[in-house]
Amino acid sequence: MKQVIDPGSVIGVLGSGQLGRMFAVAARQMGYQVHVFSPDYDTPAGQVADLEIQSDYQDLDRVARFASSVDVVTFEFENIPVSTIETACQHVLVHPAGKVLYTTRNRLREKEFLRGIGLPVTPFAPVRSLADVEQAVEVTGLPAVLKTASWGYDGKGQSRVSTVEEVRRAWQALESQEAVLERLVEFAAEISVVAVRSSNGQCACYEPIRNVHRHHILDISSSPAELPLQTEAAAMDMAHAVMVGLDVIGVLCVEFFLTQDGSLLINELAPRPHNSGHLTVDAHVTSQFEQQVRAVCGFPPGSTARLQPAAMVNLMGDLWSHRRPAWSRVLDFPDVKLHLYGKRTARSGRKMGHLTALGRSAQEAIDVAGDARNLLIKAD
Ligand SMILES: Nc1ncnc2c1ncn2[C@@H]1O[C@H](COP(=O)(O)OP(=O)(O)O)[C@@H](O)[C@H]1O
Ligand SMILES: [Mg+2]
Repeated sequence: MKQVIDPGSVIGVLGSGQLGRMFAVAARQMGYQVHVFSPDYDTPAGQVADLEIQSDYQDLDRVARFASSVDVVTFEFENIPVSTIETACQHVLVHPAGKVLYTTRNRLREKEFLRGIGLPVTPFAPVRSLADVEQAVEVTGLPAVLKTASWGYDGKGQSRVSTVEEVRRAWQALESQEAVLERLVEFAAEISVVAVRSSNGQCACYEPIRNVHRHHILDISSSPAELPLQTEAAAMDMAHAVMVGLDVIGVLCVEFFLTQDGSLLINELAPRPHNSGHLTVDAHVTSQFEQQVRAVCGFPPGSTARLQPAAMVNLMGDLWSHRRPAWSRVLDFPDVKLHLYGKRTARSGRKMGHLTALGRSAQEAIDVAGDARNLLIKAD
């Protein structure tokens, strides 16, 4: 199979949400064709791709035909069935490799991998049955967070628990799925490092991005994170160790908690471009999506240098609940960039788009982005 995929070739994407959309825009800008494959139609990625294929991921004949018709395959979310990836691999290069997905799609496997390569993680324990609860609480202490081991995103499948009885009830509510109990970290800050690694092992990281979540969903990201240099360097070193340890070819994001005493704990990994890295599109020399194109097509990473301080705020479906957002108010800001994902229906908790503000400092960018978002829903 060809290792270097030149512009003009076809990149196949499994999954068709906003990450696929921004990936497709970057790829097409560089002269690639993009074919997306997902069970849905008229999707954020499909709207901007050269070809949108609507098919079940488990339709392996369809997957095989798709993989044979493109030059390389990547994916935009980690919950693609293993059989789909394995089928695609028989016909074409797939980056990142299936084993990266296998490790990162399950929180327990991911944490065990991280601990195994000596990286710090939040104290955790598996809960596979009611009988595991007491022992798990002994490991983590209380309060804690119970999370489904698989399929969690944007805080879904998570509950905060303060007593053994609450852990039991929360586990029962998950309907006997495999779960992980984690100590609730009283963090001083959350940061993430987006990293990219090419097929010849060249690795590059963006400086850490500072993140603020609301109801367990990312709300604001800003860069620079304005943390002590040694903390930032330690986070980037850990991200590098993850890239090498998992042998990632592509983009991966490491989410961290910075504890009150200044140490870092890895919260989770995402083997793809990440919501916190969206500000790289407007504020950095190379966006995280271009990095993914470069890596999966066999090219070295682009510069991760930041051009300007920036902040990104998510636009959730809730903003649509009263009336249409007043876009002209946002577009009155010369330093604010509007990104909408083309989703036809707005729902509470659904990511519809984001704003990125550029400023002279991270705080200024945060203030401008926040003001712009508030104006979207302000009454006249
Ligand atoms: N153990 C924890 N301690 C404190 N906060 C947590 C913990 N786990 C999750 N959170 C909060 O919830 C957010 C989402 O949780 P995360 O594990 O990253 O799941 P998701 O896959 O939904 O992003 C985190 O970024 C953090 O703000
Ligand atoms: Mg997360």
